[in-house]
Amino acid sequence: MSYTVRKFDAVVVGAGGAGLRAAIQLSEAGLKTAVLTKVFPTRSHTVAAQGGVAASLGNSEEDNWHWHMYDTVKGSDWLGDQDAIEFMCRKAGEAVVELEHYGMPFDRVDNGKIYQRPFGGHMSNFGEKPVRRSCAAADRTGHAMLHALYQRNVKVNTEFFVEWQALDLVRDAEGDVLGVTAMDMETGEVVVFHAKATIFATGGAGRVYYSSTNAFINTGDGLGMAARAGIPLEDMEFWQFHPTGVAGAGVLITEGVRGEGGILRNADGERFMERYAPNAKDLASRDVVSRSMLTEINEGRGAGPYKDYVYLDLTHLDPQVILKRLPSIHEIGIQFAGVDCLKEYLPVVPTCHYQMGGIPTNRFGQVVVPQGEDKAVPVPGFYAAGECACASVHGANRLGTNSLLDLLVFGKSAGEMAVDYIKTNVKAHKPLNLESVEKTMARLHRLDNQKDGSNVHETRMLMQRTMQKHAGVFRFSYLLKEGAAKILEVADAVAQTGIQDKSKVFNTARIEALELDNLIEVAKATMISAEARKESRGAHVRDDAHDTPETPDGRDDANWLKHTLWHRDGNRLEYKPVQMKPLSVDTIALKKRTY
Ligand code: FUM
Repeated sequence: MSYTVRKFDAVVVGAGGAGLRAAIQLSEAGLKTAVLTKVFPTRSHTVAAQGGVAASLGNSEEDNWHWHMYDTVKGSDWLGDQDAIEFMCRKAGEAVVELEHYGMPFDRVDNGKIYQRPFGGHMSNFGEKPVRRSCAAADRTGHAMLHALYQRNVKVNTEFFVEWQALDLVRDAEGDVLGVTAMDMETGEVVVFHAKATIFATGGAGRVYYSSTNAFINTGDGLGMAARAGIPLEDMEFWQFHPTGVAGAGVLITEGVRGEGGILRNADGERFMERYAPNAKDLASRDVVSRSMLTEINEGRGAGPYKDYVYLDLTHLDPQVILKRLPSIHEIGIQFAGVDCLKEYLPVVPTCHYQMGGIPTNRFGQVVVPQGEDKAVPVPGFYAAGECACASVHGANRLGTNSLLDLLVFGKSAGEMAVDYIKTNVKAHKPLNLESVEKTMARLHRLDNQKDGSNVHETRMLMQRTMQKHAGVFRFSYLLKEGAAKILEVADAVAQTGIQDKSKVFNTARIEALELDNLIEVAKATMISAEARKESRGAHVRDDAHDTPETPDGRDDANWLKHTLWHRDGNRLEYKPVQMKPLSVDTIALKKRTY
């Protein structure tokens, strides 16, 4: 197998919101920028973000970034870095207005300002009552955002490589990043994209679980590539289960439904969230709502023939509001549940939705690796943003609509930093490290030539079921222990996978095998990190972590207020401190999290 080399100033991997936002900075600065993407940019998974993007614009009621910051820190169960959170919340207004200027068709209120709706965990006055903070384009916000960002990139001459699968990071002996290897999915051609700066915006890895709201393309490609290149993965034990996936189908029903007044009910018709979160009720943060729903189901109050889901009730809402503000939800109900939500309850169940962890970055989108006790140093030429990155603003649990904000703010930061790096530090391309490229070629050779290798589809199923059973919403110490051992066995099987279908038509079998190589790194990082964290925090809730005055709801700040870093090499863990010091305001002090 051979390869060719192409040179760019910058290569961006992924064309969702973060990749597109980063690419605008690079191309506007006059840099030759390639964006590699597995699907056409406007089909990237950002398209599935429904309910909005958070920004404390205060268009319909009083709001400010301090309250947004407080909610985000509290939502993160204090695992988010407060400097990065302040940075993101302060930048939110600017990020949304920029998008508006790119042509984003936000919904409007009567005075012409951007429409905002309430979302889980977003409150006014430091946790008092729900506030309208989510800026929305009906329930198609991500879709509208991708179109606005893509058009802007076309205007500034970003070069797109559509249906390309990135394979591996290229690093030199000093560890500097020099680009990526990638495969044209249609022809199988392998190209080294030799670049002065590389930005990963490859999105999430939700397909590591059996049941997920994520697109099939969400296979953790950036995380796999980073892990194989010696970069640790941060806080991978924290996975968000969105409360409202359509039961049996996994398709997302936006939290915006509850923002517009939708109510969760058990089989008896009871609005059960009043018992779990007396103040925020159905708009408590996602981890709290998902656990409450599963408690209802586990205690026998689930609905349906198997009592395995609860209801989302919109029937009391004005049908005109539903058809105007939530048109896709009306369609999804009919198509995926056979339910007209104007007249009947929707069947919903918590479904894997978002990874809070990822490739460690600072608030400027620079990938940073630990050096010694308290120091982290940037990897020259390497940046990451969006769901594949851990900035870390979401900590142990993300608030809804902070994901679109994260990808705008940190996509732009990563782009700005890469421009600065290229213009001030690397006048010419550094020499290519062929040894690094040869490793990719050997991996491809192994996949093509493995005799009687493990079946890719069966091995992936085994991985997904292991993750679902052993690292779900509620975690049990014995299942975590078993799961950690089991996932290493699955990893051995992945290392033996061969491509059964050698047909070169769109290289489908080859791509699935390559994606599995990435997913398994995510699975190992998750299981090993989750088994090790002996407390409950945010989305990570264990049966053996108990509620005591020192450990509220099982959260053990004395021992576990720290970030996990999983290293592929040696399958080992290390920890780094949480940044509790914001940039310009006082620390948001630790306290028990109630809604
Ligand atoms: O519920 C939703 O619309 C999803 C938004 C998000 O994950 O931020």
